[in-house]
Amino acid sequence: MAKKRVGVLISGRGSNMAALIEAAKDKNYPAEIALVLSNRPDAGGLKTAQAEGIATGVVDHGKFGKDREAFELALQAELEKHKIEIVCLAGFMRLLTPWLVSRWPERMLNIHPALLPAFKGLDTHARALEAGVKTHGATVHFVTPELDAGPIVAQGAVAVQNGDTTDTLAARVIKIEHKLYPLALKLVAEGRVRVADGRCLIDGVPVPDAAQLVPTHLN
Ligand code: GRF
Repeated sequence: MAKKRVGVLISGRGSNMAALIEAAKDKNYPAEIALVLSNRPDAGGLKTAQAEGIATGVVDHGKFGKDREAFELALQAELEKHKIEIVCLAGFMRLLTPWLVSRWPERMLNIHPALLPAFKGLDTHARALEAGVKTHGATVHFVTPELDAGPIVAQGAVAVQNGDTTDTLAARVIKIEHKLYPLALKLVAEGRVRVADGRCLIDGVPVPDAAQLVPTHLN
């Protein structure tokens, strides 16, 4: 089957983008990273993508002022020009309007650094620590017009340790993100994810019986 052409949208360092690029090097991976687009000309991830020989583009939101429609038209035009079939938001720090989101039904993914629906929005690690949760993590979901609320494709969990700071927790979560996003994209690119009643059903993947306990046991 032909590999799906993926466009990755970034705003910053692009470590999730890099994880997707790495995974897509496998000849059996069902997707290729065909384009990396940034809304910021100085996004570090652009250089990483260029070094990998991937087409990059910048649609600088600053140049469009308050005209979100024109910004999104420009994004969409780039995606179409490169014949993109699936869009991955990877640290893309612009809110998208329903117009753009509705161009990509079940074909636009986002990675969020929390176990949704907990901790939507920003500063997820600080809020998780503040709430005292024992398990935290990351979620890949389809993008819908409502922020961080689309159907969940996959989640990865980490234990919260005594003494964790936002930095130590973020470091543990980002490692999970780098495994989770390639996995979720693979499932979507293979057409194994169906959405029914706002939930993703995934065909043909083993789901472990054992849940993770935090803490695990008494000594
Ligand atoms: C990640 O934590 C991701 O979950 C969030 O933004 C961060 C982007 O990091 N949406 P990077 O640019 O992929 O390194």
